[in-house]
Amino acid sequence: MSLIERIKAKAALNPKRIVLPEGDEERTIRAAAIIQKEGLAVPVLLGNAAVILKKAEELGADIEGIELIDPESSPQAETYTEALYELRRAKGLSREEAAKLVKDPMYFGIMMVKLSHADGLVSGAAHTTGDMLRPALQIIKTKPGMKVVSSSFLMDCPNKELGENGLLVYADCVVMPCPTAEELAHIAVSAAETARTLCDIKEPRVAMLSFSTKGSAKHELVTKVQEATAMAHELAPELLLDGEMQLDAALIPEIGQSKAKGSPVAGRANVLIFPDLQAGNIGYKITQRIGGAECFAVLQGLAKPCNDLSRGCSVEDIVSTVAMTCVQAQN
Ligand SMILES: CC(C)(COP(=O)(O)OP(=O)(O)OC[C@H]1O[C@@H](n2cnc3c(N)ncnc32)[C@H](O)[C@@H]1OP(=O)(O)O)[C@@H](O)C(=O)NCCC(=O)NCCS
Repeated sequence: MSLIERIKAKAALNPKRIVLPEGDEERTIRAAAIIQKEGLAVPVLLGNAAVILKKAEELGADIEGIELIDPESSPQAETYTEALYELRRAKGLSREEAAKLVKDPMYFGIMMVKLSHADGLVSGAAHTTGDMLRPALQIIKTKPGMKVVSSSFLMDCPNKELGENGLLVYADCVVMPCPTAEELAHIAVSAAETARTLCDIKEPRVAMLSFSTKGSAKHELVTKVQEATAMAHELAPELLLDGEMQLDAALIPEIGQSKAKGSPVAGRANVLIFPDLQAGNIGYKITQRIGGAECFAVLQGLAKPCNDLSRGCSVEDIVSTVAMTCVQAQN
């Protein structure tokens, strides 16, 4: 079974209620029909019911039985307005502005999750990452004890000798352009949790990546990764985590042995923490495009699961992301 097949099987064991704010978007409608049919989650589509039903009919998508909610006319709008106003008034949001925002399906969906009227949210087929992330960051906020929201890419590589039988978790590749040492430490701890939850990796082995291994180079960028490594040890003393190290020292046993002798991680890492977003984003695309890996992105560190899609996503990408969100919600 591939990684995504395993995730779907896990999702189907306990389907959670996942809200899709882009309910009138064609790929989303098709995906909702598949999700319902395969029992991967209980999808809820936001938008005008007449528009959604007409599109579904044109597409030949069977969405009978799927709950449709129109933020424009929902009786919950008042509850969400009041809750949003209370949450953001200290930041200068007026009640009128809150009322206007909850008519926006993205904010309405985020409020559903915030008030536990849904277990998770998936969006981004028709919105940018920032459009979806900003309300999630402002309203859902981070998990207790977690300083930042970041992302992990689950990389299913053809070379089964790498990582955990070909599986590697990369972070952060989407959210934080230039994390501080402390933020990098939190990203590392989150990514280890993602490896456990979504990849069933029982023993995450986390490598803090750099262009230096164990002091082989001296530079302020290397110092930052060394500091992040020390902070991550304090945050999660039980976690197998080591750094700073180069990518080859992290992945290849002989190189790990020679460059970082005695490290519990070097040569056998299954979670890779990149020092910044440029490295992470380029790194996952090299693995995908040149290395032929299949990759799946999730957000981590949020108090409740919300995930972003790429605007170029396929129907299958939406189905997979909903399944991953469902598994995150189960945990
Ligand atoms: C995530 C992102 C959208 C936040 O943008 P922003 O609107 O400038 O964020 P702000 O600094 O105004 O912060 C908004 C709120 O989110 C919080 N926040 C921002 N980043 C956060 C993070 N990583 N974790 C937790 N909270 C965060 C802020 O504390 C703030 O909260 P507050 O309003 O309650 O005080 C921005 O970092 C971003 O664009 N990242 C890159 C995303 C991207 O383009 N990726 C491309 C790869 S696909």
